[in-house]
Amino acid sequence: MTPKDKIISLLKSVDDVVSGEVLSERLGISRVSIWKHIQGLVQQGAAIETTPKGYRLLQDPDSLTPWAFGERQAQIHYFPETTSTMNEAIELAREGCPDFSVVVAERQTEGRGRMQRTWASGDGGLYFTLVVRPAIPLQLVGLVNLAAAVDMAEVLREHYEVDACLKWPNDILVGQRKICGILSQMEAEGDQVAYMGIGVGLNVNNAPETETPVAVSLKHLLGRPVPRREILLAFLDRFEQRIRTFDPAVVIEQWKAFNVTVGQRVRVFILQETVEGLAMDVDAQGGLILKQDDGTLRTVIYGDCFHQ
Ligand code: BTN
Repeated sequence: MTPKDKIISLLKSVDDVVSGEVLSERLGISRVSIWKHIQGLVQQGAAIETTPKGYRLLQDPDSLTPWAFGERQAQIHYFPETTSTMNEAIELAREGCPDFSVVVAERQTEGRGRMQRTWASGDGGLYFTLVVRPAIPLQLVGLVNLAAAVDMAEVLREHYEVDACLKWPNDILVGQRKICGILSQMEAEGDQVAYMGIGVGLNVNNAPETETPVAVSLKHLLGRPVPRREILLAFLDRFEQRIRTFDPAVVIEQWKAFNVTVGQRVRVFILQETVEGLAMDVDAQGGLILKQDDGTLRTVIYGDCFHQ
């Protein structure tokens, strides 16, 4: 345990003020060092109140700081603000961070969406990127994204009774409105996945409706604010299990059960090209199979899909 971890643990163990003197005795370091560590903790986002009698850890049910994640603490990299959790996560992944490291931020100044779009990332939303190193063939990496969407949809359904559905490939909608988007970035070494950064943006207590009418937040749906930490923990538990026991056929089956794309007429924008047709099915790698107007089948593996 670092001195900072020890301070947090001591402050957590008493629901009251702990004096600098007591902390200094327990840690065996000077009161000035304690004060410096406390300043560092506050800069890192810890809600510690300084009073004339000492320090108090404020209870925040929505804290996303590592110390609030119990056993997962070491996995969590917290930023009050960053450009994009994707940037931070990719840097960590390239430096060799452990599997299942998570970068989470309160705000992103350059939040990224799919197809080079920006992702509005104001206060109250849940923005994180998870680094995974799945031992699966490269051609199946698309299924890891579909699996992340299935798992987050299940969390929303089971914990909040929200009718979360999937639009190909991995948007989560409630009604016709988007509540969650997923962006991933990966690097390969030969035919192996070196790492995947799976970036998830979930509208929780933010108000995306003010920027785009086709978006919705959990708070808006439930009529109450929701602690983001419990959502992230529930997702991590589920997704960790998923990756450990990864089964492509199960992912496809579960994705199909929640999807609202198959059976619809769709238009898919793929970089320079637009493909239109009836969405017939998804293939074993998560590609969308379309029946075009001339009757031919075409499978698209990437793109922006609009239901018509
Ligand atoms: C989409 O366009 O639907 C994908 C949006 C993904 C947004 C998340 S927020 C956390 C992570 N960091 C980013 O900059 N983007 C992803």
